[in-house]
Amino acid sequence: MHREIAPGVYYVGVDDHHTHLFEGLWELPFGVSYNSYLVVDEKVALVECVKGAWDDEWLDNIREVVDPAEIDYIVLNHMEPDHTGALPRIAEIARDATLVYTPRAAPMQRAFYDVGLKERTVDDLEEISLGSKTLRFIHAQFLHWPETMFTYLVEDGVLFTCDAFGAFGALNGRLFDDEADLERVEAESRRYVSAIITSYLKFVQRGIKKVQDLGIDIRVIAPSHGPVYRKDPMWIVKKYLEWSSPELEKRVVIAYGSMYGFTQRTAMLLKRELEALGVSVTAHNLSYSEPSHVITDAVRAGVLVLGTPTYDAFPFPKVWAFANEIVGKRFPKRPIGLFGTYGWGGGGVKKLRKQLEDARYEILEPVVRVHGRLTDEEIGACRQLAREIAARLR
Ligand SMILES: Cc1cc2nc3c(=O)[nH]c(=O)nc-3n(C[C@H](O)[C@H](O)[C@H](O)COP(=O)(O)O)c2cc1C
Ligand SMILES: [Fe+2]
Ligand SMILES: [Fe+2]
Repeated sequence: MHREIAPGVYYVGVDDHHTHLFEGLWELPFGVSYNSYLVVDEKVALVECVKGAWDDEWLDNIREVVDPAEIDYIVLNHMEPDHTGALPRIAEIARDATLVYTPRAAPMQRAFYDVGLKERTVDDLEEISLGSKTLRFIHAQFLHWPETMFTYLVEDGVLFTCDAFGAFGALNGRLFDDEADLERVEAESRRYVSAIITSYLKFVQRGIKKVQDLGIDIRVIAPSHGPVYRKDPMWIVKKYLEWSSPELEKRVVIAYGSMYGFTQRTAMLLKRELEALGVSVTAHNLSYSEPSHVITDAVRAGVLVLGTPTYDAFPFPKVWAFANEIVGKRFPKRPIGLFGTYGWGGGGVKKLRKQLEDARYEILEPVVRVHGRLTDEEIGACRQLAREIAARLR
């Protein structure tokens, strides 16, 4: 199915209700969409492809609007295969088309697909005329990869932003912001940006500022996942600004693992102690909370606390993996509290501490180590840690 989003501009994307984990990592309880657009003028431009396995449905959508063999430009804002997997398929049909992307995308295209079409690499703010319509390319580095750009359709004020302003969740025919369930869109776009773009939050702020400074008239924001914003395009821009803000919130997230309850009891004690001091706290058992939800909750929390049992002399695997997310996704710096339980030699908390300190996170004192059941002394250490956390949030 296709739909017109502006005069001569058509949505031809697809819904994915089959993939369980986006990037093999993040759950998709409501699916996801791969958006693709056609701009039909004297020349025909296709903006983005879709993930490989969806090429048949996508080609059917394109054929409702134009003969795909007559596509003149294939604009690739971003080379990630959720937007380019179907490129080889369309390249077999649109043999005369020209690929349009940034200079940094060119070697990726050759490495990933090498479809052998003509190519045109575009500099920042370069334009291509389609006849009565003009495409202007705005480099948008690290949104979400180094080669990424936005495409701006000048005459219609449509900004194609690829991953930026995207959301998880299939569209199910509710393409526009004024048709979508905005509460769900808000939750799923926040989870999307937290899971996918947390390493590049600075670039979200930079990209938005760049577009604002250009002073262009934006009537429609057309991302490549989730709804198209025509009623209130600034709604999603404001949300993204907030979610990528370097300012942290005055609250605590405790993320812990536990097999038999000793670590969980310590986590709950710490939570109660913090609440008694008037601190707002959420706690996640990492065996049951899918990581994208925990990342979303944790990325802007003023203090993070990790709790782990020692597991074969290492941190509990789920806690170890979450510490990797903090470091790998370059969570903005903030103090981190640590506690752990052990049965004999311990070592879990020590390895967590080293990893986080190597990545230059400050570890709060005391680090609480509990040998099985909490003793009065260990309860005292938890209280002390709670007071330290509360003081840091003040
Ligand atoms: C599979 C497994 C491996 C463990 N490995 C260690 C270890 O290497 N060193 C240690 O001191 N304790 C080890 N323990 C003991 C736990 O760290 C200890 O019982 C802890 O308090 C369990 O916390 P939990 O009840 O929150 O799961 C291990 C326990 C299990 C079940
Ligand atoms: Fe991406
Ligand atoms: Fe994407």
